[in-house]
Amino acid sequence: MPLVSMRQLLDEAAKGGYGVGAFNVNDMEQIQAIMAAAKDTNSPVIIQASRGARSFAQDRFLFHLILAANELYPEIPIAMHQDHGNSFETCKSAIDLGYTSVMMDGSLKEDGKTPASFEENVAVTKRVVDFAHERGVTVEGEIGVLGGVEDGHGAGGTGLEHVTDPDQAVEFAEKTGVDALAIAIGTSHGAYKFTKKPDGSVLKMDVLIAIHKRLPNTHLVMHGSSSVPKDLQDVINKYGGKLKETWGVPVEEIQLGIRNGVRKVNVDTDNRLAMTGAIRKVLWETPEKFDPRDYMKPAREAMQKVVAQRMTQFGQAGHAGDYKAVSIIEIAKGYKDGSLKTKPLVAAK
Ligand code: G3H
Ligand code: 13P
Ligand code: ZN
Repeated sequence: MPLVSMRQLLDEAAKGGYGVGAFNVNDMEQIQAIMAAAKDTNSPVIIQASRGARSFAQDRFLFHLILAANELYPEIPIAMHQDHGNSFETCKSAIDLGYTSVMMDGSLKEDGKTPASFEENVAVTKRVVDFAHERGVTVEGEIGVLGGVEDGHGAGGTGLEHVTDPDQAVEFAEKTGVDALAIAIGTSHGAYKFTKKPDGSVLKMDVLIAIHKRLPNTHLVMHGSSSVPKDLQDVINKYGGKLKETWGVPVEEIQLGIRNGVRKVNVDTDNRLAMTGAIRKVLWETPEKFDPRDYMKPAREAMQKVVAQRMTQFGQAGHAGDYKAVSIIEIAKGYKDGSLKTKPLVAAK
């Protein structure tokens, strides 16, 4: 099947009441790990690339690696997504290349650090929506700002400074027509999210639930959703790493999110931890080795294990065969004739 529009994939997830992991990739082994996990668990997948990934791997390498995945696993629906687009130009370049989905993260200015005004966010996101929908491409927007900057996007701080305001979320969804909405509920990117197991004072699941009540038909997206499991931290530290004690987002909180409208769950850090631990173990135990395959193979297997576990926990496992991809040309017609126009159903407060 062709690459799938993320909108179709998320509409199907909403019908089935499950979430879909969106896993970041930078290289071939990570794509292979995701696809092997998807095959084993019979899962639809979202493969996403940040700007950093696109520049690290070089655009065409990454694009063609994902096309290879699509060729090798025709039975698995794959949406190919630009993570944290910082400008119209970034999103346009992904769409021109063949991505079926983009995130316009207008919650921050182009530098990926400074919070933007609501009006700036609406303007740039709407511009991307108009361009993308004409071409059948899905758009994720973000309202509210994630904390942390040590890995990727974020405005710094604890993550609590810019928690999404439900009223603004409603206004943003109505004004932009985004297909999916990322919200800020106290998480941040990277390994250092929380200093202890998070409770409601730092992880604002109540805000997520309030937004879902107001926008019951909008696909919500949770960023910064790595769980940072202790066992993965321990492997790294056992073999010479120096991670400080830290907590991520517990899987049961993500599952609560999924029961309340979350359809896309972004995970990168857990896979980084799994791969790094596996590589450290090989190099620590057998320092005489120098063939990259000796450590990249266990690294790929370690990531596959984490991804398969998340696919099962998020509920997407078993759903790869539920539908066939609609071509993005057909999807574009749906946006044009209004049948796919996002009309957020706004419930009363
Ligand atoms: O935005 C956060 C993702 O984990 C991607 O990170 O920008 O370092 O590739 P990155
Ligand atoms: P983590 O750093 O928690 O894996 O978050 C990834 C993410 O949100 C990518 O956009
Ligand atoms: Zn993110």
